[in-house]
Amino acid sequence: MSDQHTPFNPLDAAHLDDPDGPLAAARGRCPISFPRPGLACVVTEEGVQHVLGNPGIYSNRGNFAIDGELELPAQLITMIDPPEHTRLRGRLLRWFAPARLRALRPEVERIVANALSRLPAAGEVDLYESYVRVIPASVVFAFMGLPEHLWQDLENWTEVIAGTMPEPLIDLPEMAKMIATLTELLERRRAEPPAQRDVIDGLLHPQDGELELTDVEAVTHLMQLVLAATDTTRSLILNTLHSLLATNQWQALAQERSKVPKAVEESLRHDTPLQFVLRTTNREDSLGGTVIPAETKVLVSLQSANRDEQAWGADAGQFRLDRQAVSAHLAFGRGIHTCIGAPLARMESVLAIEAMLDSYPTLRLADSYRWEKVRAPMMRRPTNLRVVLA
Ligand code: HEM
Repeated sequence: MSDQHTPFNPLDAAHLDDPDGPLAAARGRCPISFPRPGLACVVTEEGVQHVLGNPGIYSNRGNFAIDGELELPAQLITMIDPPEHTRLRGRLLRWFAPARLRALRPEVERIVANALSRLPAAGEVDLYESYVRVIPASVVFAFMGLPEHLWQDLENWTEVIAGTMPEPLIDLPEMAKMIATLTELLERRRAEPPAQRDVIDGLLHPQDGELELTDVEAVTHLMQLVLAATDTTRSLILNTLHSLLATNQWQALAQERSKVPKAVEESLRHDTPLQFVLRTTNREDSLGGTVIPAETKVLVSLQSANRDEQAWGADAGQFRLDRQAVSAHLAFGRGIHTCIGAPLARMESVLAIEAMLDSYPTLRLADSYRWEKVRAPMMRRPTNLRVVLA
C-alpha cells in the first residue's frame, strides 16, 4: 500500500499500484513535481490542458517510455509530431468515419452477443475473464480486417505486451510472434487485387498522394491500433460495471437505459483507463510559475486531471450519474493527439453494458469482492470482477 499523504511519485511502484491518495496529495501540495532531474509530473486539470494544448513545446517523442525513447522499427502515431503526425493521422482517420463505424455496429453486436452467450444463467463468475476480456480485442480485429482464426493468439500476445507498458519490451517472444503473424498476413493481402475494404487495405494501398508504406511501417501501425484499442476499452467496460455495482446504481440503470452513455462517460472520468501520457519539452516553459527546463520528460496525469476538485467540484472522487458536462473529461487526451478510437470505444462499451443489463438486471458484486488495481502501471481497472449472476 502507498502512503496516501505522500505526493504522487511515478518512480515508486506502490504509487502506481494505488495512485488515488498520492495524486490527491500532489494536487493539493505540488501540482508540478520533479521526482528526479529531467522528469516532471503534472497533475492538475489546468496543467494537463496546458501541456496537451501546446504540442510545439511538449513533443510526443519518447511517449510511452519514462526513461529515454523506445527503439521501434517504425514510428508510432502517438510518438511523432507534425508534419509527419498530421499525415499519418489523416490516413488513419478515414477508417474511423461515422459511416464506417455505423456499418461496423452489427458486427459489434454479434461479438457482444457471442460473449454473453458463454456466461451461465446463474452463479459466481469473474466478469473480466468470462465476458469483458474478449470483446474489445474481437472488435478491433474485425474493424481492421484480421481473419477470425488469428484472434485468440493476437489477443493473448496483446495482453502480455500491454502489461509491460510504459516500457514495452521489444524482445518479448509475444512481440516477435505478433510481428511475424501480421507481416505474413500483409504479404498475403499485398498479393490480392487492391480494394478499400478495411484498415489493412488503407495501409497497403495509398490514396490521393499518400506515401507508400513498407510492411514494417504497416505492421507497426496495425500493432499500435491493437494495443491502443484492447486493454483501454476492456478497462472502460470493466470499470463501468464495477462502479455501477459498487454504488448500487445497476438496478436503477436497468430501468433507465438512456443513462448508459452517461454512465460510460462518468466511468471514463472517475476511472481513467489510460492513467497518463508522456511528453518531452522542446524548450523551457513556465507552468503555473514553475519552470520546466528544455528536454524534460513530462508525465501528464489524465487520471488526476479528471479527479481535480478545482475542475470537478468537491465530489470529484464520487461516481455520479447526474454529473453535468461529464464528457469534458480528459480520458481520451486532448489536442492534436486526441484518441481517434473514442467513438468506437464508446459504442462497444455502451453495447456491452446494455447487453448485461438485458440479461442480468439483478447482477451484484460477490460478497467477498475487493477492488485491487491491475499491476500495469499505465492502466486502471480491477484485476478481476467477481459477481453473482442472477
Ligand atoms: C476506452 C478506450 C480508450 C482510451 C481510454 C483511449 C485513450 C487514448 C488517449 C489518452 C490517447 C492520447 C495519447 C496521447 O495524447 O499521447 C489516445 C490516442 C489514440 N488512440 Fe485511443 N483510447 C481508447 C480506445 C481506442 C481505440 C478503440 C482505438 C482504435 C481502434 C484507439 C486508437 C488510438 C490511436 C490511433 C491514438 C493516437 C492518436 C494520435 O496520436 O493522433 N484508441 N487514446
